[in-house]
Amino acid sequence: RMIFSGTSNPKLAEDISRYLDVPLGRVRISRFKSGEIYVHYEESVRNADVFLIQTLGDPVNENLMELLIMADAARRASAKSITAVVPYFAYARQEKKDAPREPITAKMLADVLQVAGIDRVITVDLHAPAIQGFFNIPVDHLTALDYITEYLKNKRIHKPVIVSPDAGRAKTAEKLATYLDAPFAIMMKKRPGHNKAKITHIIGEVEDHTPIIIEDMIDTGGTIVSVIEGLIEKGAHPAYICATHPLFSNDAFTKLKHPGIREIVVTDSIALPTTTDDHYTILSIAP
Ligand code: R5P
Repeated sequence: RMIFSGTSNPKLAEDISRYLDVPLGRVRISRFKSGEIYVHYEESVRNADVFLIQTLGDPVNENLMELLIMADAARRASAKSITAVVPYFAYARQEKKDAPREPITAKMLADVLQVAGIDRVITVDLHAPAIQGFFNIPVDHLTALDYITEYLKNKRIHKPVIVSPDAGRAKTAEKLATYLDAPFAIMMKKRPGHNKAKITHIIGEVEDHTPIIIEDMIDTGGTIVSVIEGLIEKGAHPAYICATHPLFSNDAFTKLKHPGIREIVVTDSIALPTTTDDHYTILSIAP
């Protein structure tokens, strides 16, 4: 068994390697002047079960290409099997056509990973669990929900209500509500454009409660801020935000400095700049 890290989240790869007590393998990843990527394994991978750790955060297209080239190099060097460990599986938000002449990028990505020689994928909290079915290879779909639950249990939050920001997250919210023995509410939203959300309805009691919002990802923070504003309007207290994947694009950090937010709990599926802001808790998914 050999583990190699791409460049997208070396800290997570080191933590996984320490946890497993398997040292990271030596691989050189560099760029030609044109931006094209070069990969060279600096030790033999012949007959090895190779694990490539590469999350697909920003810059997503670079990180993806790096993973594909790492897989290709390992396959051509006679690895016995290649498992891609992709904590954040990008392009998953386009998993169906919502309008004519749109792509289904989640399916396309699944195909491309297989073409590059990947035999198995390990991922965490896919945007839609049905994406597992887009692959013809095994997919281990892990979740960070256990870590999030454990963390919240120890907080002893007063009058919590678990909030799903949309119908798609309702199942996860219901699970969390069961684990924490708390009520839950669902928000209905419209999307007038990319990264924009407008709350239309809230189903469930939130007044005088502390919302715990559960999300798969925070990208620009736009959805969370709309959800928070909807909750405040209904008389809720400042909320806990829990999301597996902290993409935090654009001015997300500024947006999320919102009086309606008490704490933001995310994982290290995507590398974040170290922050001393006690608004943030980062749970490690390495184990
Ligand atoms: C969409 O359905 C996702 O679950 C997230 O709600 C969304 O992608 C977050 O994006 P942003 O933070 O830009 O609103």
